[in-house]
Amino acid sequence: MEQWKLISVQEVDSTNSVLKTMEDAPHGTVLCAQRQSGGRGRLGRSFSSPEGGLYLSVLLRRGEPLAELLHLTPMAAVAVRRAILDACAVDTQIKWINDLYKDGRKVCGILTEVAPQGGVILGIGINCNVPAFPLELREIAGSLHEFCGAVDQEALLHRLIQGLQELDRELFSSKKVWMEEYAAHCLTLNREVLLIRGEERSKAFALSLDENGALLVRLPDGTTETVTTGEVSVRPQ
Ligand code: BTN
Repeated sequence: MEQWKLISVQEVDSTNSVLKTMEDAPHGTVLCAQRQSGGRGRLGRSFSSPEGGLYLSVLLRRGEPLAELLHLTPMAAVAVRRAILDACAVDTQIKWINDLYKDGRKVCGILTEVAPQGGVILGIGINCNVPAFPLELREIAGSLHEFCGAVDQEALLHRLIQGLQELDRELFSSKKVWMEEYAAHCLTLNREVLLIRGEERSKAFALSLDENGALLVRLPDGTTETVTTGEVSVRPQ
């Protein structure tokens, strides 16, 4: 693993949280846990992390200002999608901005956070061989083994780290190619969506992505808006 350092542990509360405390960890430190007692997701949600999933965080101590790294998050989704396709032969789709779905159920979530050491932490949770989900997640979460049989988690981890190293090398030089791949597999595009911001809900039509992965939508009054955060549901009610 070209200069990257893999640290494997059995259980932590959250690999993102623990990696944040590792002040001297160098660029390319990967912290991987078999389970998390307090896995975290976007928008302050929890991420169910029982045995059978792959939970890892990667520290990218890049020097660029954060405003220049906005496309890193969607590129991470492409790296994970490629790894799952290669290692498990499962063809997933990307739900904006950073969830991977198979047949309508979420199999992976990605949480990008600012690293206190400098740069960013990419946190990735993949449901590989999760035997059962809590009742409230059963209809919305899926595990890759349901689609391809038992997942070789070592092989998937290895392929994923390779892909993340590619991402790191090609972050600017191949940005356009990666972003086109993201759009080609993004299930949120070209459909009616529901924008969810706190208690507020508004219907919109998802048109396209800008060069950093922000979502361009058309509102019912015909105006367009660029969405950079919050939740975009693809099942409007
Ligand atoms: C989401 O679904 O909103 C994102 C989920 C991200 C989960 C991963 S698992 C590894 C890392 N540690 C965490 O606490 N969260 C991320």
